[in-house]
Amino acid sequence: QNGWQGLIETYRSYLPVSDRTPVVTLLEGNTPLIPAPALAAQIGKQVQVWVKYDGLNPTGSFKDRGMTMAVSKAKEDGAEVVICASTGNTSAAAAAYARRAGMRAYVLIPDGYVALGKLAQALLYGAEVLAIQGNFDCALSIVREMAEHYPVTLVNSVNPYRLEGQKTAAFEIVDIMGDAPDWLCIPVGNAGNITAYWMGFCQYHQEGRCRQLPRMMGFQAAGASPLVTGVPIDHPETLATAIRIGNPASWQKAMAVKDASQGQFNAVTDEEILEAYRLLASQEGIFCEPASAASVAGLLKVKDQVPAHAKIVCVLTGNGLKDPDTAIKHGNNQFKTGIEPTRAAVAQAMGF
Ligand code: F0G
Repeated sequence: QNGWQGLIETYRSYLPVSDRTPVVTLLEGNTPLIPAPALAAQIGKQVQVWVKYDGLNPTGSFKDRGMTMAVSKAKEDGAEVVICASTGNTSAAAAAYARRAGMRAYVLIPDGYVALGKLAQALLYGAEVLAIQGNFDCALSIVREMAEHYPVTLVNSVNPYRLEGQKTAAFEIVDIMGDAPDWLCIPVGNAGNITAYWMGFCQYHQEGRCRQLPRMMGFQAAGASPLVTGVPIDHPETLATAIRIGNPASWQKAMAVKDASQGQFNAVTDEEILEAYRLLASQEGIFCEPASAASVAGLLKVKDQVPAHAKIVCVLTGNGLKDPDTAIKHGNNQFKTGIEPTRAAVAQAMGF
């Protein structure tokens, strides 16, 4: 078979797999790095901006990168059941890969705070979905205990294989650009992905595959920004439910990434997230989910700090179709309804 074989086959020598690892794959990875000229124009200074559109993975988010690794290694170890806590995307990816591997998947989600598409996916893939009356942080602490006391494999990003898989997104960026970008802008929730990207850039740098390392610019939603405020948040709130997290599991790692890369954490408001979300769709033709737009909202927020001629990559972590409710509620246009089915009425509605 020719063509893309999935990220484990492609980056095998950089990953902790062997001939004995049964590769569970949906041919994830190889997502496009799309130029974003309208966004670059908003910044000026002759910068170049790209978006790494990881919403084009098989289940619609970057989580597939981590899950192909986590589930393959779980299968290698003989696991039969996986478990995770999730704001939605992890549960969709865990469900898809676990079922493909013939395993059962249990997913704990915060009741009422998971976008419709994600819930639909987990249910159809055949996960056992347990909605708890608590937030993500609460769900995560429960599944960590479950994995300690019962024969279930935890596939949240505290599972080290998750980060190993996710670091391949950095490889793909360097493989296309020929070097690391000057800035990497990325939404931050549980802080696994920013940690994974940095691992990827550093590994490639050590191997001489890139000359420079990027500044890692992490963005959190203002109502869920513990890495900005420096203290855990008991009741995180944001319309970007994917990153509605108050006590990130990879807190220390993310802080180390910030320091090592001379990066920053900043907060963006829900209104700023929605503006970036609409801009990406209406100016660039790219539909991402609200949490993903935090990277773009963040870049616009700190644009005065961007050096001239900088090359910037914004990570778009999830597909816009994940959250149709937000798109309809906060879209660019109201659609016109109840139009009489005649040419005259349509012409009139079009303003002719
Ligand atoms: N963007 C999206 C679309 C996400 O789903 C997540 C995390 C993030 C960004 C943040 O990544 O946690 O590695 O800092 N979603 C997790 C989930 C929490 O359960 O799907 P992070």
